[in-house]
Amino acid sequence: MTIIKGKTVLLTGASRGLGVYMARNLAKEQATVVCVSRSESGLAQTCAEINGLGGKAISIPFDVRNLEGLSNLAQQVNEVAGPVDILINNAGIEIHRIFADYSLEEIQSVLTTNLLSVMELTRQFLPSMLERRSGHIVNIASLAGKKGVAYSSIYSASKAGLIMWTDAIRQELAASGIKVSAICPGYVCEAGMTVDSCVPIPKLAGASKPINVANAIIKAIKRNEVEVIINENVILEYFTKQMFAIGQISPRLVDYMYRWMGVVELNQKRVESLEKSEYLGIDSPHK
Ligand SMILES: NC(=O)c1ccc[n+]([C@@H]2O[C@H](COP(=O)([O-])OP(=O)(O)OC[C@H]3O[C@@H](n4cnc5c(N)ncnc54)[C@H](OP(=O)(O)O)[C@@H]3O)[C@@H](O)[C@H]2O)c1
Repeated sequence: MTIIKGKTVLLTGASRGLGVYMARNLAKEQATVVCVSRSESGLAQTCAEINGLGGKAISIPFDVRNLEGLSNLAQQVNEVAGPVDILINNAGIEIHRIFADYSLEEIQSVLTTNLLSVMELTRQFLPSMLERRSGHIVNIASLAGKKGVAYSSIYSASKAGLIMWTDAIRQELAASGIKVSAICPGYVCEAGMTVDSCVPIPKLAGASKPINVANAIIKAIKRNEVEVIINENVILEYFTKQMFAIGQISPRLVDYMYRWMGVVELNQKRVESLEKSEYLGIDSPHK
């Protein structure tokens, strides 16, 4: 069992959504949390809350799409907080579109934020972890990486890539003392990118509470879990796993199930909602 107390954790995507719940939980475990995101004000709010509760949080505003700059970020983190014990790659974006309507810039932005930055940031922290023969890399993926999701194909591809890359490096690092986990939440209610799109989540798909996602991440770190599927309750988690297993034999059947559960319709509505806000000139925080 890993003890989180006293550890230094680098958490990306800490300015809003699930990251805030993760930061709170890590602070409760008495870790030092280095919070990274673009929004200075969002980070300041997260850090103020944690420091106000007697925890220790440090804010470093940074755009993880700046791949060449990630070595500077790593250096900055080392200077202010010392070596990182746990890296939680949580920053992520989702842009809903009919595939042919994506711009190249949108495709690059999703893949860079959700996949390339994770690889590069991990690469920056690995040498120090290898030297110490300890460390934990926790990648926040999604159920969208286990089965393709219509109208969110680039996000799905980024998360599928993240899950496979996590799987590969976990095996590669098996004897190194470094642990690697993939966390795959389904839809999340109350906070985060699904709620912010203002389209109701279909009942049959399930919707986890953000606190339960954050609790599952703490458990995954403590128990060194390999891949964690998170849904609203254990029954839906079991159903989800069974469905993915069936999908290996009959992907078309699971296509049908996704339609029946309302997942395809939900994302169609999210495309319409995004297009409407773009038409009205409302900037999405999820880009
Ligand atoms: N909510 C869900 O339903 C759900 C389900 C499955 C998986 N997930 C995954 O969980 C993670 C967190 O999602 P969420 O729901 O909390 O989303 P969210 O509310 O949109 O928050 C995303 C976080 O990522 C940060 N971020 C985005 N682009 C960034 C960039 N270029 N550089 C640095 N930080 C950046 C954002 O901060 P700034 O905008 O300040 O940069 C924000 O803190 C994501 O990886 C997501 O894919 C979410």
